[in-house]
Amino acid sequence: MRATATAGSNIAIVKYWGARDLALNLPANGSISLTLDAARTTTTVDFAPAYEADALVLNGREVGGTALARVSAHLDRLRALAGVNLRARVETANTFPEGSGIASSASGFAALTVAAAAALGLRLSERELSRLARLGSGSACRSIIGGWAEWLAGTCDEDSYAVQVAPPEHWNVRDLVAVISAEPKAVPSAKGHERAASSPLFEARLRQVEEALPAVRRAILERDFHALGVLAEADALSMHAIMLTSAPPLLYWLPATVELIRQVWQWRLEGLPCYFTIDAGPNVHVLTLPQAVAHVAERLRALPFVRQVIPCGPGPAPRVIPSGA
Ligand code: DP6
Repeated sequence: MRATATAGSNIAIVKYWGARDLALNLPANGSISLTLDAARTTTTVDFAPAYEADALVLNGREVGGTALARVSAHLDRLRALAGVNLRARVETANTFPEGSGIASSASGFAALTVAAAAALGLRLSERELSRLARLGSGSACRSIIGGWAEWLAGTCDEDSYAVQVAPPEHWNVRDLVAVISAEPKAVPSAKGHERAASSPLFEARLRQVEEALPAVRRAILERDFHALGVLAEADALSMHAIMLTSAPPLLYWLPATVELIRQVWQWRLEGLPCYFTIDAGPNVHVLTLPQAVAHVAERLRALPFVRQVIPCGPGPAPRVIPSGA
């Protein structure tokens, strides 16, 4: 019982930071993201009686530890649904470098969920796939959706999943991922979610997000790039303010991160349509439009501290790749 699936990562415009329930990955707030085309994970899951234990091969190398434990726990959820007790071999590869500031857990758990469900012959709705992917990694629930996705925070396991705000072809916003450092992050997101509520600013952030969600939805539907960009920057800065003021504090930025924020603001003053957003790391996602993408990419590549620029755009929902394809 074997299947392969591919899924895109996503970049959040309104971010998930802080959980109501960490075991179930129930977020403190709703979030909105764009699923990406070029940053993908492709995963093959093979369930067979010959396997004595689950195995995980990541970009050609067998890995154990917490990565395997997380994958195995996720496979348990799907095995329970299918009533199957077979162990599996999981082979997975990313199109983007590890630690590039592109969330491999989002595309990884979306691809794993879709591939394992297909291998087990489970016919699941998009909502069910999103809910399941969320249990593997919170942000993965948004990668089940093509294009612009909103994760409805919900109140419990059943009603916390992502829905589509607009399909990928609705609006060709470009995301240039400027890699400043490819070091793995010192503090995983899960630790940050755990301590977010210790920030005295957290309640204020939740109020800000409540107002931002309908505004971001509107900016997407109306293709209002200025509105989207302003909201994306405000939300990224708000999330990093929570990180800075948590106990103990978290600082993901490097000096070059700040330098790049200032550059983006300067380029905008010069008339270039570009805005930044930053996840739990030092790398900067620069949002722009097709007519400016070559120019912005050129400026990014000219900066001595930018190691790599990964161009992305709106991507489709995950799909199962037929065997032999
Ligand atoms: C900063 O969902 O990646 O990217 O459950 O540990 O996998 P895990 O956390 P994850 O946290 C997302 C954090 C973020 C913001 C976002 O994508 O919404």
